Amino acid sequence: MAGGLNGAEPVIRCRDLTKVFGSGSAAGRALDMAREGASRGEIQQRTGATLAVRDVSFAVEPGELFVVMGLSGSGKSTLVRLLNRLIEPSGGSVEIDGRELRGLSDAQLRQLRNRRISMVFQHFALLPHRTVLQNAAYGLQIRGTSEGEKRERAQWALDQVGLGDRGDAYPGQLSGGMKQRVGLARALASDTDVMLMDEPFSALDPLIRRDMQALLIRLQKELSKTIVFITHDLNEAMRLGDRILLLKDGRLVQLGTGPEILAAPADDYVADFVSDVDRTRVLTAEDVLREPRLVARLEERPADVLRRLGAAEATGAYVVDDDRRILGVVHDEWLGQAAASGRERIDPGALDDGFATTGPDRPLIEILGRLGRHAVPLAVVDDRGRLLGVVPRAAVLASLAAVPTRS
Ligand SMILES: Nc1ncnc2c1ncn2[C@@H]1O[C@H](COP(=O)(O)OP(=O)(O)OP(=O)(O)O)[C@@H](O)[C@H]1O
Ligand SMILES: [Mg+2]
Repeated sequence: MAGGLNGAEPVIRCRDLTKVFGSGSAAGRALDMAREGASRGEIQQRTGATLAVRDVSFAVEPGELFVVMGLSGSGKSTLVRLLNRLIEPSGGSVEIDGRELRGLSDAQLRQLRNRRISMVFQHFALLPHRTVLQNAAYGLQIRGTSEGEKRERAQWALDQVGLGDRGDAYPGQLSGGMKQRVGLARALASDTDVMLMDEPFSALDPLIRRDMQALLIRLQKELSKTIVFITHDLNEAMRLGDRILLLKDGRLVQLGTGPEILAAPADDYVADFVSDVDRTRVLTAEDVLREPRLVARLEERPADVLRRLGAAEATGAYVVDDDRRILGVVHDEWLGQAAASGRERIDPGALDDGFATTGPDRPLIEILGRLGRHAVPLAVVDDRGRLLGVVPRAAVLASLAAVPTRS
């Protein structure tokens, strides 16, 4: 996950954020009831007001793709609208870059929405009588950028979303997926570091949706945007989110990375929810990584390595250099002969390449077919070829069966 680790200040921070929809007196009674712990249903029944968002606290780090996920009515859109103060909170606070939104003047708020935070909606309206390029430039229109700069920025944004050659078309000539990409381009053209996206892909066909998700992940990496992404689709949340905030009835029920939520659901509701997630796509090599027990050095005595192998009931071991780079695999057969003939070191010529490697970020679905083919478990290596750990078959199977394997 980006940010946080380097101690950077969160881009967005909410504290006890609460929103009630209802007339003044009803809303007041609703808040009182909420404080006493009444459920959303009870509050609705007794006061007629809707407690849409309830005591939600979280912080979004710079460069993070932060997903808010929940069923219809759980308060997602309300939450995201509170973040740029399209609606006023009934309680709690929102800070952007450490500044309380409540303290901003109207002019400052406009400035914030133009320069700092852009928003993409599920069904946002393209202007039908304007070209795709003009639509992409729309956010800039309002801001009064020069004509040439506007066109340049909009063209760049269209290039980013793969519509660079459709600038002269009209929205009516585009497919749904393309229109949604124009919406994304509009947000990109405005060049804000923060993007709020309220179910931008929900109306798209599954395959187009996948393309859009891949596009978003790429853009987010390349342009290092901070994105709050709303979805009601858990698989989408798992695919996109650095972290996922789960909302239920306006409350935060869990906040964590996809693998964290899969490994330890906060309650039965979440457990039920995640039960049909495709774990092979969510969990990565890093999530099932184990400390390699059988790592040897060339300087070691074959008899000693053989003993360790025997104790672990294994038939081969990785041999690594001083930087933990893998030199090869040594097998029990050779070790047995070498031990019998009293050798003091492992002979580099005895090593073979009977092993497979993968990167820490690779999903299990890519790894599954490569497990168990060799005497040594699959090696997880970093981009410099250093051994980070191994993936034993049992660890993968346990994680797929949702058996907690880490405590
Ligand atoms: N302007 C409003 N006035 C009154 N009630 C509202 C208003 N906006 C939202 N609500 C209510 O607040 C609750 C949360 O709504 P919200 O739109 O935030 O949910 P959501 O998670 O975005 O749902 P969906 O997935 O259907 O978009 C719902 O009960 C909704 O009816
Ligand atoms: Mg919504």
